[in-house]
Amino acid sequence: MGEEKPRVTISVIKADIGSLAGHHKVHPDTILAASRVLAEAKKRGVIKSFYVTHIGDDLVLIMTHYKGVDSQEVHEVAWNAFQEATKVSKELGLYAAGQDLLSDAFSGNVRGLGPGVAEMEFVERPSEPVVVFMADKTEPGAFNMPLYRIFADPFNTAGLVIDPRMHDGFIFEVLDVMEGQVVELKTPEESYDLLALIGTPSRYIIKRVYRKNDREIGAVVSSERLSLIAGRYVGKDDPVMIVRGQSGFPAVGEILEAFSFPHLVAGWMRGSHHGPLMPVGLRDSRVTRFDGPPRVAALGFQVKNGELIGPADLFDDVAFDETRRMAQLITDYMRRHGPFMPHRLGPEEMEYTTLPEVLKKLRSRFTSYEMGYKPVVKTGGSSEEVD
Ligand code: F6R
Ligand code: MG
Ligand code: MG
Repeated sequence: MGEEKPRVTISVIKADIGSLAGHHKVHPDTILAASRVLAEAKKRGVIKSFYVTHIGDDLVLIMTHYKGVDSQEVHEVAWNAFQEATKVSKELGLYAAGQDLLSDAFSGNVRGLGPGVAEMEFVERPSEPVVVFMADKTEPGAFNMPLYRIFADPFNTAGLVIDPRMHDGFIFEVLDVMEGQVVELKTPEESYDLLALIGTPSRYIIKRVYRKNDREIGAVVSSERLSLIAGRYVGKDDPVMIVRGQSGFPAVGEILEAFSFPHLVAGWMRGSHHGPLMPVGLRDSRVTRFDGPPRVAALGFQVKNGELIGPADLFDDVAFDETRRMAQLITDYMRRHGPFMPHRLGPEEMEYTTLPEVLKKLRSRFTSYEMGYKPVVKTGGSSEEVD
C-alpha cells in the first residue's frame, strides 16, 4: 500500500478594488500591496504558493494550498489582500476604489461578499497542467460556450473521439442563478438538454465539469453575480475559471481552441452591451474602446508538489491574431447599433443597471392610447389586461 497523496487546492479569487484611468487597468502598486499579504500568508504556511495578476480593472489572486475549497483561513487571506490593495487604491485616488468589497467585515467566506471565486481540489498527477482564465467586462456565463466546446464538442476537442480516457464524456454542473438551484447533466447523451439551459448564459451558468468515468474535476468557474448579491448594478462579474489539461483531460491546445471564435458576450460598457470576447496576452490585459471590448487572458501553470510553476501567457501568440482581428470587426459592427438592441442588452438584463431609473422618470408622461383592442401583457407567467 502506497502512502495516500495529499489533495492540493487551487484557489483563484478576484475583485475590482479600483483601477487606473477609470475602469481601464489595475495599478501595479495595488498588485504589490496584495502580494505582500500573500507572501506573509505563505511564510505562515497558510498557502503554499501564489501568483498575483490582473485582467483589465480586476485584481486576481491565484493561490495553492492544502486547506481545501472554501477554507476560512485562505479566504481571509484573500480578503485581507483586497483590503490592503483597497487602501493603496484609495490613497492613489484610483477609480471605484473598493468597488467589489460589498461588506466591511469578513465573515468566514468571501462568497457573496463581492469577490469572484473559483476553486478546485485534486490529487496532483505526476505532471499537472492547469489553465487559469480571467475575463473582464463580462459575466460568468461567458464561459458556457467555450466550456461546452472544450468538454462536449468533438469538432473542438479531438480527444473526445480519439482518447479512450475521455470517450465516455463529462458531467456538467449547471447553476440557475435566479432560483439558486443546481442540476447535473451528462454529455454526450444529454447534450441537447444541456444546450437548452446554457444557451441562456445570464441565468444558467456552468459551475463545474467532471470526467464521467471517475468524477475527477476538470473545470470550475466563479459564479458570483454581483448584481444579484447587491440588488443593483455594481459592475459586471468579470469571471475567472480553472481548467485542468492533458492525460485524460482535453489538451491545452484543445482548451485554447475553444477561444478561437470571439463569441458575443454580455457586459462591455456599463455592463449593458453585447460584444465579442477577445483573447489577449497580459500586455493587452486592459480595456479601452467603449470600456472594452470584453477580454479574456489565459495563464498556464504546472502544479508540482503544491507549487505553481509558470505562468505561460497562452493567448500572447500570433495564432490568435486572426481571432483578435475578427473581434475588432465585430466590435465595429456592434458599435454601429449605438443604443439599440441587440448591442444594448434586453430589458431583463437591463433591470440591474441604471436604465430603470431613467424609465421611471418617463412613466408619468405616458397617456392612454386607444388601440381598438385590449392588449394582454404577460408578466412572469401570469397575464394581465392593460387598462
Ligand atoms: C463595466 C464598467 C464600466 C462602467 C463605466 C461607467 O463593468 O465597469 O463600463 O460601467 O465606465 O462607470 P461610472 O458609472 O462609474 O462612471
Ligand atoms: Mg471596474
Ligand atoms: Mg472588471
